[in-house]
Amino acid sequence: MRKQIVAGNWKMNLDAKQSQELIEALKAQSLDSNVSVAIATPSVHLAAAVAQTQDSSIDVVAQNMHQATSGAYTGEVSATMLKSIGVNTVLLGHSERRAYFHETDAQLAEKVNTALDAGLNVIFCFGEELEERKSGSHFDVVSSQLSKALFHLKANQWDHIVLAYEPVWAIGTGETASPEQAQEIHAHIRAVLTAQYDAALAESISVLYGGSVKPSNAADIFSKPDVDGGLIGGASLNAEDFAAIVNAF
Ligand code: PGA
Repeated sequence: MRKQIVAGNWKMNLDAKQSQELIEALKAQSLDSNVSVAIATPSVHLAAAVAQTQDSSIDVVAQNMHQATSGAYTGEVSATMLKSIGVNTVLLGHSERRAYFHETDAQLAEKVNTALDAGLNVIFCFGEELEERKSGSHFDVVSSQLSKALFHLKANQWDHIVLAYEPVWAIGTGETASPEQAQEIHAHIRAVLTAQYDAALAESISVLYGGSVKPSNAADIFSKPDVDGGLIGGASLNAEDFAAIVNAF
């Protein structure tokens, strides 16, 4: 059975007090215990969030890290620093990192290696842009993103990888992929994994959908057989909405 996962991506939102209040509000919600729940907070809040969630089942995830293990990279955070404060998972490859910080597939392959070497789990984000969807190249784009950043991994390293398909045109736009569109591409992702590795590996990987998931559409999206949960941006900043999405399976 694949893990069902709902992860909130807070992006660059909330100050320390607001972060603390949102975590308290989340802890007060009743959350489906069959679902792994995670929040990706800004790095400055990670240590406090780890401490604050110790008595709960909520995992705290980093939004990014540098590919080097240490060194002269002013302003950056390393995988071992994350591990040392009790963070076990990092988001890599979010479309905002790719678009605004020019992260490339090659750089992401390095980040994935560094994260796994440090003992972190990775939620790897990828997805096509609107023009690519319109021209029908989205299947190839997704295959290429996976292949360039992840297909050098050995099969056993995939135990530490979760995939998050996020079509760029659906992120923060209010426009969601239909449940059918999500299922179609998630099935494609599993087929690509089967071709590169094998069916057992493909069946074991949780593939999340992200892009304008809300309480009103989560149940339909999560009902699709190849959708194993969601990566939630805007709606993760409200405890009731986020809980409703967690409880939408
Ligand atoms: P959104 O963001 O839910 O606000 O569309 C999703 C994401 O960027 O992970």
